[in-house]
Amino acid sequence: MKQHLVIFDTTLRDGEQSPGASMTKEEKIRVARQLEKMRVDVIEAGFAAASPGDFDAIQAIAQTIKDSTVCSLARASENDIRRSGEAIRPAKSGRIHTFIATSPIHMEKKLRMSPDQVVEQAIKAIGWAREYTDDIEFSAEDAGRSELDFLCRIFEAVIKAGATTINVPDTVGYNIPFQYAETMRQLIERVPNSDKVVWSVHCHNDLGLAVSNSLAAVLAGARQVECTINGLGERAGNASLEEIVMAVRTRADVFPVETRIDATQIVPASKLVSQITGYPVQPNKAVVGANAFAHESGIHQDGVLKHRETYEIMRAQDVGWTQNKLVLGKHSGRNAFKTRLQELGIELDSDEALNAAFARFKELADRKHEIFDEDLHALVSDEVVTPDQEHYKLLYSHVCSETGEMPHAKVILSVGGVEHKGEADGGGPVDATFKAIESIVASGAELLLYSVNAITTGTDAQGEVTTRLSKAGRIVNGNGADTDIVIASARSYLNALNRLHSSLDKVKAQGDV
Ligand code: KIV
Ligand code: ZN
Repeated sequence: MKQHLVIFDTTLRDGEQSPGASMTKEEKIRVARQLEKMRVDVIEAGFAAASPGDFDAIQAIAQTIKDSTVCSLARASENDIRRSGEAIRPAKSGRIHTFIATSPIHMEKKLRMSPDQVVEQAIKAIGWAREYTDDIEFSAEDAGRSELDFLCRIFEAVIKAGATTINVPDTVGYNIPFQYAETMRQLIERVPNSDKVVWSVHCHNDLGLAVSNSLAAVLAGARQVECTINGLGERAGNASLEEIVMAVRTRADVFPVETRIDATQIVPASKLVSQITGYPVQPNKAVVGANAFAHESGIHQDGVLKHRETYEIMRAQDVGWTQNKLVLGKHSGRNAFKTRLQELGIELDSDEALNAAFARFKELADRKHEIFDEDLHALVSDEVVTPDQEHYKLLYSHVCSETGEMPHAKVILSVGGVEHKGEADGGGPVDATFKAIESIVASGAELLLYSVNAITTGTDAQGEVTTRLSKAGRIVNGNGADTDIVIASARSYLNALNRLHSSLDKVKAQGDV
């Protein structure tokens, strides 16, 4: 009889801590809905005390999600815990996740607290959390570099105080699988009442071992894994959800556990998170990379054609890969468009957003005969920019590029509803277009990344462009897609400028600059 492995997704919290991956409330709700559809057990929706925006997003997710527990992170302080408690109040099932550092280096240099004070604070934190919920998770931050005896002591104390999940994070990705598994085994053996709580792992990928460490800990008795879609997360990221879920499922002969995840929702979730955050998925990424099921060598292709299992240990369709299917064409109507979006799990919040997306679809269908699911995802992610984020809007773009001449671009933008014209020369058509935009906006932002990906095959494929900008310590990503990559680039650049504009506005409103 298999035991249940709790899948705790922290894409919206630890994942969002990746530079430039910050999401708007609407984007977070879309991701949360997809996680619920995938049947994730716990969604860590954010860090309520971090900002009013984080609080609002957690509260909105708590109101929306019914089939997953909604969790908020909190430091072991009264204010953090009360903010988390308020944010998760509307949830059908809500959890508070509180943490305090336990390694000698963190206690001494960061917290400047003695081990006794840390234990005392942790017990108080559980007490405050209990005023809001019985579902309380306690994390010993930097447990991976903490002393085992001290971990035993603090875990015994918080279990006695009412914690129901005990998380053992490898915060800096320092552990090696056999060693981390041994820590987990010892903790479960030595901590009194360890059988009354769920033991959890949270591994970072600094040495590329986050998934291996998590799985080793599962074999040693952990029954919750904290992970993120596409392995997004602080620095080198967290353990990737898709790899954990598919390892446990594919090697059911090794793992005494099962998850309740609907694996066919994995690829749609991966694409959604990648589009929203602007973090592309590397082609050779396990499970969700474009090449994960592609066979290049003749020997492999021959083997797979004769018998799929010669070279494939999972089926592409089991994790949600679909054939590039022709789904709609230029004669498709609004209803067919809406129905296909629903089948893809894409819900547009208003009729206005649907109409705008449909208009863009018609425009695309005129230029591109075959519209695939991937095109619809890109098109809709462009449309999900809410009107208040559209301070800068592209009205017109023209670029002249010929052999031996300097490319020249002209653009017309709407800036806060007022039309402005700009033009510039550049090293290439994209460079000229960005300079023409800057001649109007004068953002002063630094371009950190510019990347183009073909969404489907063929020379009429849409190019999906990601632009990363930095200004005043803020890093944002912008996306844009179009069959014309100069227009896709301009959209992506303006999308990033709009995010910068609204995030700087929010910061001003919060008064922290
Ligand atoms: O990496 C870490 O230690 C964390 C904790 C807050 C769980 O993210
Ligand atoms: Zn973390």
